[in-house]
Amino acid sequence: MPYLSPALNVMIAAARKAGRPLSRDFGELENLQISMKGPADFVSNADQRTEKLLIEELSRARPGYSIFAEETGVHDGPDKSHRFIIDPIDGTTNFLHGVPHFAISIALEREGVLVSGVVFNPASNDLFIAERGHGAYLNDKRLRVAARKTIAESLVATGIPFMGRGTDAQRKRSLAEVEAVVSRSPGIRRFGSAALDLAWVAAGRFDAFWERDLNAWDIAAGVLLVREAGGIVTDLDGRDDPLKHGDVLAANEALHPQMLKLLREATPKT
Ligand code: IPD
Ligand code: CA
Ligand code: CA
Repeated sequence: MPYLSPALNVMIAAARKAGRPLSRDFGELENLQISMKGPADFVSNADQRTEKLLIEELSRARPGYSIFAEETGVHDGPDKSHRFIIDPIDGTTNFLHGVPHFAISIALEREGVLVSGVVFNPASNDLFIAERGHGAYLNDKRLRVAARKTIAESLVATGIPFMGRGTDAQRKRSLAEVEAVVSRSPGIRRFGSAALDLAWVAAGRFDAFWERDLNAWDIAAGVLLVREAGGIVTDLDGRDDPLKHGDVLAANEALHPQMLKLLREATPKT
């Protein structure tokens, strides 16, 4: 059985509670009103309502903690040493298209260190949790990253900048990286939820995942999941703090340096 700290229990309860109306919405997509925040970046009532619910639940249980959430930004609390990082729906585009691959992501930082993480997909009921020093779990099953040692046998996930995201140069770089990986690996996937991509690396479904230009809320919980499942997570320059730089590479110990090298060499020379 996983060890659940009191804070992790609070996070799980909040994710499950917010997941219920979200899966109802998912079943009745046509009733959702969709507004445009920018090209291809739809913000639905569901994002906002889910975030509101999560913040209410988390701050009821931990009133002083600070919160950093995608839709409403920074909520400073008197307790500066604890911070929840929330993405109410990671994979909004999937959600809006009826693709059951999206998740609520909640992480907790203590003194800037990730200590607890939850990634919950209400459509599949997959609950990924991690507690620093106590491992990562999927529905009570302990997780371990995959053991494959070469890119030639690895299933690799990524995210590519889409309409309205990134400059031409950023898109070119991502596509050059994709090309480098597709020519060396048996499979590449772009499933559209960075939080689940990382959770799936933790579960050994994907061998590696990389993406550039993400935000802390996309990856905070997933980074802890991969680390607690025995994987390595850095940014794409090999630095330890992907939340700071927004670029992420996650893989097992053997693959991580190979992927880092391959992606570095793929960057187009300017
Ligand atoms: C997005 C997803 C997607 C990634 C995007 C993110 P959202 O988050 O994680 O996989 O490629 O960069 O913005 O907008 O669905 O919360
Ligand atoms: Ca996101
Ligand atoms: Ca989101």
